[in-house]
Amino acid sequence: MTPSISILGGTGSLGKGLAARLSRAGLNVAIGSRDSDRAIQAAAEVQSEGSVTGHSNADAAAAGDIVFLCVPYSSQAGTLKDVKDSLRDGTILVDATVPLATNIGGPPTRTLGVWQGSAAQQANSLVPKGVTVVAGLHTVSADLLGDLEHDLDEDTLLCSNDRDAIAKVSEILAVIPGLRCVDTGRLELARVTEQMTALMISINIRHKAKTGVRVTGLPSSDA
Ligand SMILES: NC(=O)c1ccc[n+]([C@@H]2O[C@H](COP(=O)([O-])OP(=O)(O)OC[C@H]3O[C@@H](n4cnc5c(N)ncnc54)[C@H](OP(=O)(O)O)[C@@H]3O)[C@@H](O)[C@H]2O)c1
Repeated sequence: MTPSISILGGTGSLGKGLAARLSRAGLNVAIGSRDSDRAIQAAAEVQSEGSVTGHSNADAAAAGDIVFLCVPYSSQAGTLKDVKDSLRDGTILVDATVPLATNIGGPPTRTLGVWQGSAAQQANSLVPKGVTVVAGLHTVSADLLGDLEHDLDEDTLLCSNDRDAIAKVSEILAVIPGLRCVDTGRLELARVTEQMTALMISINIRHKAKTGVRVTGLPSSDA
């Protein structure tokens, strides 16, 4: 059975783009927001093949087997505290947040130090024990994800202490043509993958481009 999918902060650039792509592939998605009316409006904007519904973040969290967290780093901890009691045992939380310096008014090519090592590890310290955190989507441009006319041709790097959870998230994201998931290792590797966002923003500024990453040389069965 297809796991139910929720996106917290699904009214934003990344979350809405993800919802649009998943819906186009025929999957049903619950979008969460601090304001359920805003979520309902965003859902109506992106729904195509699969149904997209709008909810409060807490209700969306309660509904999801796989819950994508797509909020700014500065609101990551607050959002997780708000939905903590709604997350069920066995839920997979996919943390896409990046601790960019923009969260405190700094440049987008710099990141902030996080005591736990990365935003994803911080998320891991905030969710209930039965919830598994997967870090991912850090290098995927929200603009390109949201542009359904654009053919994606890139990888996303997933890290988690639970390889089965990575496999389940990969299975969902595999419905998006041109986006390959690469199992990158344990959650502590999010220290590296989150930093790549700042690197890619710098590349994008230098080259006036919207870039993605591609890992080469992998056996096709190991992606
Ligand atoms: N944009 C990209 O290309 C990209 C790529 C990879 C990773 N990321 C990461 O993914 C995350 C989301 O990025 P984004 O560009 O989609 O962000 P965004 O559009 O700025 O915000 C996403 C949503 O988060 C909620 N939010 C905003 N401020 C909040 C606050 N103070 N408290 C609680 N919720 C708040 C809002 O939803 P409501 O107002 O409806 O609650 C908003 O629509 C970020 O951590 C970013 O670093 C972004």
